[in-house]
Amino acid sequence: MLQIQENVSLKNFNTFGIDASAKYFVEINREEELTELFMDPQWLQVERLVLGGGSNVLFVKNFDGLVIRMNIRGIEHRINHEEVFVEAGAGEVWNDLVNYCVDRQYAGIENLSLIPGSVGASPIQNIGAYGVELKDVFRSCRAFEIATGEFKNFTKEDCCFGYRDSVFKNELKNKYIILSVKFRLSLIPNINLKYGAIEQELANRNISEPTIKDVSRVVSHIRVSKLPDPSTIGNAGSFFKNPVISSEQFQQLQSKFPEVVNYPAGDGLVKLAAGWLIEQCGWKGKVVGHTGTWKNQALVLVNHGGATGEEVYSLSSQIIDSVYTKFGVSLKREVNVIS
Ligand code: FAD
Ligand code: EPU
Repeated sequence: MLQIQENVSLKNFNTFGIDASAKYFVEINREEELTELFMDPQWLQVERLVLGGGSNVLFVKNFDGLVIRMNIRGIEHRINHEEVFVEAGAGEVWNDLVNYCVDRQYAGIENLSLIPGSVGASPIQNIGAYGVELKDVFRSCRAFEIATGEFKNFTKEDCCFGYRDSVFKNELKNKYIILSVKFRLSLIPNINLKYGAIEQELANRNISEPTIKDVSRVVSHIRVSKLPDPSTIGNAGSFFKNPVISSEQFQQLQSKFPEVVNYPAGDGLVKLAAGWLIEQCGWKGKVVGHTGTWKNQALVLVNHGGATGEEVYSLSSQIIDSVYTKFGVSLKREVNVIS
């Protein structure tokens, strides 16, 4: 029998550590429990929020509906020549899956080591880091359609993945609950050192022929040096996306700010480092009330203890305004704001 709890504190269910509450809260351990839940029509009528690890959400007020916490576990794999298909339950911790694969020499997700959160959330924003995105290894996912109670498989094409984007953030927002994700990995590693800092750190360690375990360790090391650990300082990683602008706009910007940090983004587009833009506006490491930006990475907003969601949101608005005033570039929030 499903346990629906009332007035549950979400403080331990979001890595920002915001002390909001949910009017109703349910934990899902098996697929059939979703069918059982939605047999009661009242849950189709209330506002709903699916939650994994809560590492990409900001609660700006109490949630006046039903929080559905995904806890479906299990990892299975099948080897076909040099390909490995790994399928994991939505409630598996992402980094546990990475370790499972790295330990068995299943290559492809080692650059995504130590990203917080759950497997089920990984397709939502097409998680990415250190030169790899989820879409590079994604095979399919299985999901539950809330309105009909039907189960559906989504291929990579169905998901319309983009930079920190997918169909689940657009047309299908809040319509499906992801139950499991299948990945296509390889027994033959294709070591990806596109991200300069990885090569640098491997050189520091005198590693000339890295294994996927070396890459995983080095990525983890770089991440720990830059990003605050949510278990001690509340945060949700990058608060904004890196803005993508046209090459015309970029040329104008670069003529005024020759140092602007940028990367080619294909199709005549240029991606800017939002952390650089924010730092140039004087925000890096600044403490504002209970909140602020991280001292080693201006793109990360933090909760220094006792911050409310409104405070963090208000700081993010001030940052957006100042970056726009100085550079004419609009930052977009990457974190899901729950208001
Ligand atoms: P949640 O925060 O619980 O949810 C995020 C969104 O997904 C919400 O909209 C939620 O409704 C939806 N959702 C969650 N589970 C499901 C499901 N099963 N079905 C349908 N919808 C669902 N992200 C990166 O891409 N790259 C990084 O390098 C990175 N670094 C980070 C570093 C730190 C320190 C932190 C705190 C965060 C970082 N993030 C990064 C962001 C975050 O880890 C990812 O977005 C992650 O995928 C969120 O997983 P989650 O389970 O915590 O999702
Ligand atoms: N920079 C600054 N000041 C700062 C921060 C960054 O000048 O305070 C400049 C530096 O020049 C630096 C460059 O920006 O070299 C890029 O910084 P970093 O390598 O830290 O990466 P990022 O672009 O800030 C993105 C992702 C991260 C991901 C890393 C590594 C986004 C929004 N963020 O950050 O993802 O881990 O690359 O691939 O794309 C997340 O999504 O939560 C997240 C942490």
